Amino acid sequence: MAARPKLTLRLCEPRGFCAGVDRAIQIVVLAIKKYGAPVYVRHEIVHNRYVVEGLRAKGAIFIEELSEIPADHRDRPVVFSAHGVPKSVPADAESRNLFYLDATCPLVSKVHKQAMRHRRLGRHVLLIGHAGHPEVIGTMGQLPEGEVTLVETEEDADRLSFDDGTELGFVTQTTLSVDDTAGIIARLEERFPKMHAAAAESICYATTNRQDAVKQAAAGCDLFLVVGAPNSSNSKRLVEVAERSGAKSAKLVQQADEIDGWDALKDGALVGLSAGASAPEIIVDSIIEAFRERFEVTVDIALAMEENETFPVMRALRDVELTPA
Ligand code: F3S
Repeated sequence: MAARPKLTLRLCEPRGFCAGVDRAIQIVVLAIKKYGAPVYVRHEIVHNRYVVEGLRAKGAIFIEELSEIPADHRDRPVVFSAHGVPKSVPADAESRNLFYLDATCPLVSKVHKQAMRHRRLGRHVLLIGHAGHPEVIGTMGQLPEGEVTLVETEEDADRLSFDDGTELGFVTQTTLSVDDTAGIIARLEERFPKMHAAAAESICYATTNRQDAVKQAAAGCDLFLVVGAPNSSNSKRLVEVAERSGAKSAKLVQQADEIDGWDALKDGALVGLSAGASAPEIIVDSIIEAFRERFEVTVDIALAMEENETFPVMRALRDVELTPA
């Protein structure tokens, strides 16, 4: 048998699940254990097909709007996703007499509070983020319509204009590119030198750490793979960071069978591998396995930092034991 070509897999650390995603998944699992199936979940709990399918098999029903819950299921719990929801959503749940569990990541809730604080202090809020992302919809929906202006790019920042004397404060989506956001903030500060920052950093620890690890690992990679869904903001940012940090090509894949171009990887190739905050480790494992089937693989860990954050679930679920189902 011919010797298999050699290949180095540079595995980013940290990668994959963050504390907010882990908590949101636990909330759905614990709710099913405590209250029985079905448990409704508004929007994909996290942007990952594998996770969503796994929870569906346990008894979760995914919906986009509360109006989809049938009248004879109004006694079933409904969980709000980790991305956060506009204030109108819990209000709607209350008016329908629904029992809801809010799985919004505590770091997203912190951004909501920062936006509300700006408003309390008489400031118009600028939200740096991507239009249409559920987190952006949720953050904009903390304030009355017209009190938040979305800024997606430096060009958007150039186009803004406000009446004299308008006080401004900004917050950002938690999962943005650290470098792009710094550029947008710099441009806003040039135009509005009196603009107030949030009292705490909005881009979360998990986004920053995963981008740092990719930056460290990407140089010299013939290919860089990021495990994540096409609608996962933080995963898409990791692909961009890999491209900018020296990988010859970078791709987002949801699972091993989406990898193509195996033949282009020559003996001695270097491949980077990371995963977005909503991607389970089991998919990373299956990708490593797919490489092992074709190459003699050496794994090289690119460690940016240790992570040990955990976020507890809400009190109502703390008495339920989390055991493998
Ligand atoms: Fe929360 Fe950041 Fe994860 S905001 S859900 S810890 S990517």
